[in-house]
Amino acid sequence: MEYTSLNNGVRIPVVGYGTWQVSPQEAYTSVRSALDAGYRHIDTAAAYENEAEVGQAIADSGIRREEVFLTTKLWNAVRGYEETLQAAKESMEKLRVEYLDLYLIHWPNPAPHRHRWKEANAESWKAMEELHESGAIRAIGISNFEVRHIETLLESAKVVPHVNQIRLFAGEQQRQLVAYCRNKGMVTEAYSPLGVGGILSNELIERIAEETKRTPAQVALRYNLQKGHVVLPKSVHRARMEENLRLFDFELDREQMIRLDALPNTISATRNPDEVPF
Ligand code: A2P
Repeated sequence: MEYTSLNNGVRIPVVGYGTWQVSPQEAYTSVRSALDAGYRHIDTAAAYENEAEVGQAIADSGIRREEVFLTTKLWNAVRGYEETLQAAKESMEKLRVEYLDLYLIHWPNPAPHRHRWKEANAESWKAMEELHESGAIRAIGISNFEVRHIETLLESAKVVPHVNQIRLFAGEQQRQLVAYCRNKGMVTEAYSPLGVGGILSNELIERIAEETKRTPAQVALRYNLQKGHVVLPKSVHRARMEENLRLFDFELDREQMIRLDALPNTISATRNPDEVPF
C-alpha cells in the first residue's frame, strides 16, 4: 500500500474500501473480507446505516486499531455545535472506537438546513475542530463541497479541511474544484471511482486495459491515483476487492493519461449540492 500525508501530517492509505451501498446485511462480511484482502482504510458514513457492522468487523478482525484508517461522516439531518459533538460520539460508539481517523461533513447544503446552511456548517465545523484539537478525531474534512461552500466555511474556520471527498472518475475530474482544493492544501478523495461500475465497459478504458494487461477497474483506479486522488472503490466480492488493491505494479504512461483526460463524462452529471432533496 502507498500512503499520502494530510497537511497535519496524518498518513492515509491511498486506497480505501468504500462502503456506500454495502447494505447492513452485507457490511460485516464485506468489511471482514476487505480487511482480510489487505485493506487498511475503510470509508463509511452515518447515512450508510452500516457503522455498527463495520465496527464489529474491525473489532473481530483482530487488527490493531491504529493499523486501520477509519472515516465516517456527519449526516445531513444533523447540524449545530452540540448536535455534531453528539453525532460524532454516537458514530464512534457504533464503530466501537475511541477515536476516528477522519470525520467529514457529508454534504454542504442539506435540505433540512437549507435556509441557514452557512451558519449550520460553521457551527458543526467548530465542533469538529474541537474534536480534532482534543485528539478524538485525527483529521477533519468535507464531502461534496464545491468552491463556494468551501469559501464560505473558510470565513469562520480555524482549521482548513484536510480532505474533500468528491465524485471523481475518468470522465469526471472536477478540475477547477480539485485545483482549488490542492491550492488550499486539501487532499482529494474519489468516491465512485469506477463510476458506480459504469465506466468499466467504456471502450477507451477497455482498450487501455488490453494495452496494460490489467482489468478495466485497475485502469480506472490507477488513473485516479495518478491524478493524485485517494480512491475508495466499493465491491462486495472478494476477488474484485483484491483486484482493486493491485494498483502498484504498473503505471499508465503519459499518452494513456492524455487519452483518459480527454474522456467525456459518459455516466451522469455530478449533482448540484444546493439542490439535493436530502
Ligand atoms: P460489486 O459490489 O457487486 O462487486 P464505485 O466504487 O465507483 O461505486 O463502483 C462500485 C460498483 O462497481 C459496484 O457495482 C461493484 O459491484 C462494481 N465493481 C467494483 N469493483 C469491480 C471490479 N473490479 N470489476 C467489476 N465490477 C466492479
